[in-house]
Amino acid sequence: MQYQKICFDAMEVVKEAAVYVRDRHENREGLNIEEKGKQNFVTEVDKKAEQILVSGLSNLLPESGFIAEEGTSNKRGETYNWVIDPVDGTTNFIHGVFPFAISVGLLEKEEIVAGIVYEFGLNEFFYSWKGGGAWLNGDPIQVSGVSTIGQALIATGFPYTNFTYLTEFMNSMDYFMKNSHGLRRLGSAATDIAYVACGRYDGFYEYGLHPWDIAAGILLVREAGGEVSDFDGHKEPLFSGDIICSNRNSYAEFQETIHKIMKPQ
Ligand code: IPD
Ligand code: CA
Ligand code: CA
Repeated sequence: MQYQKICFDAMEVVKEAAVYVRDRHENREGLNIEEKGKQNFVTEVDKKAEQILVSGLSNLLPESGFIAEEGTSNKRGETYNWVIDPVDGTTNFIHGVFPFAISVGLLEKEEIVAGIVYEFGLNEFFYSWKGGGAWLNGDPIQVSGVSTIGQALIATGFPYTNFTYLTEFMNSMDYFMKNSHGLRRLGSAATDIAYVACGRYDGFYEYGLHPWDIAAGILLVREAGGEVSDFDGHKEPLFSGDIICSNRNSYAEFQETIHKIMKPQ
């Protein structure tokens, strides 16, 4: 497979979905909002955008399957599967707050070989393909160069359905508030991870995530020269639920700190 070509072709499909999402964002009155679970929302826009993505990506690669948040397709591909979040940051979308993003990753067997995050607020396309580096709107990007948490701006996501590790999480926020340049929470994990890839953030961590939140971002950070793992340090976090990403210089300190606070036993 030509990874660069499939990445660029997939970006055209993402653009098509983005035109629809942006239009609905600007015309939000009468938006049909459902609660999938407590504080976990889905709108007609998430569903329609996912249908546009699934249909366009199926045309690109007819043998491919999908791991898609809203369940538009349950087809699994033997070799290729698209991992799709049609609107990452739905709560932001509903409230008219940026950022929110479309996130699309492509798996070849177990390996992520292309990743796209399109963020609406700043009209930014982040994309990468296996071996091709990471890019933002046509320019190459790389992770930051800071070497300690003391110099780092850290991002995270607040739990809103899974409170299993709330105490530990509060402890981690306490630590980073006191020992880093500061802590940010944008409300779109895909955007957070893309911001690590381009060096705006020095590190990101969150628990309770799904593969569609992080698939594209994992490749972006790796191709931008950074490190990605779960809280235990395993380097394949796609299905693990928790993620750490940062530049290489500060990864060891970041991972050890998070592991110690989030998994203290
Ligand atoms: C959510 C966002 C949020 C993160 C949540 C995700 P959704 O995705 O990425 O930043 O904290 O864990 O579920 O539900 O808006 O697609
Ligand atoms: Ca999401
Ligand atoms: Ca979503």
